[in-house]
Amino acid sequence: MTAQIIDGKQVAADMRAELKEEVAKLKEQGIVPGLGVILVGEDPASKSYVTAKERTCEDIGIYSDDNRLPEDATQEELMAVVERMNKDPKINGILVQLPLPKHLNEAEVLLAIDPDKDVDGFHPMNVGKMMVGEKAFLPCTPHGVIQLLIRSGVNIEGANVAIVGRSNIVGKPLANMLIQKSKTGNATVTVCHTRTKDLADQTMQADIVIAAAGRPNMVTADMVKEGVVVIDVGVNRVEDATKKSGYRLVGDVDFEAVKEKASLITPVPGGVGPMTITMLMYNTVESAKRAAGLETTN
Ligand code: GUN
Repeated sequence: MTAQIIDGKQVAADMRAELKEEVAKLKEQGIVPGLGVILVGEDPASKSYVTAKERTCEDIGIYSDDNRLPEDATQEELMAVVERMNKDPKINGILVQLPLPKHLNEAEVLLAIDPDKDVDGFHPMNVGKMMVGEKAFLPCTPHGVIQLLIRSGVNIEGANVAIVGRSNIVGKPLANMLIQKSKTGNATVTVCHTRTKDLADQTMQADIVIAAAGRPNMVTADMVKEGVVVIDVGVNRVEDATKKSGYRLVGDVDFEAVKEKASLITPVPGGVGPMTITMLMYNTVESAKRAAGLETTN
């Protein structure tokens, strides 16, 4: 079997078009969703993510408040920006780009964000609400993965899902969302990690494999069953002398070999990546609606 490629760029473009329309309607009622973005330091990957987020805001019609702090910014300086944004009624969502430089206390910053503006869904209040199945901002990458599955017609209910990776940003929340008693849940989930005894043994049982380990070629063709659905969340830079930049992006999956066995597969780039930013925009629009007392979805 040769897999059909899940075109994340197209799915994201469709969702962004829906959001753009919704934002235009909100503007007629005097509501302009706003996103506050905070980037500390010069990490090239973080800088490019943040720039992409700001460009997408502009495209959809979301106001963005761009704050870049130097690498040596203090905890107090960072907390002061968060506090200012918490109070600013023009801002419905606050995004602190992670990872932060080592000298800063990430947990303290995430806890300081007003949970009603926590569009990343990283505040323990939102994590807890998600866990018990209450309305909450859902973290963008896992939410994007679920949207990709649904919009590609994949049946999640009753599926055996193997997630490779247990990060707070992807693996843990995704496992939680997929086991919820809901239309987008009801899966049987196995979370694999560096101490899993036999990874292939677990992935081989799965109808859906989600790779989020941050290691190139972690999932190979001999580890998946025929007809599997594969979602690759990995974004790894590998050296490539033929590229002007000197590197190219690859996922965690051996794409060329696995696509010959899978029924559906996401590429890297152009799979999950565009969905993450889209779900951030979605959460920001939801937050603006909630602040204005309008009906929201989650
Ligand atoms: N770094 C990597 N992924 C993310 C994300 O989804 N949100 C934030 N704030 N930082 C990240």
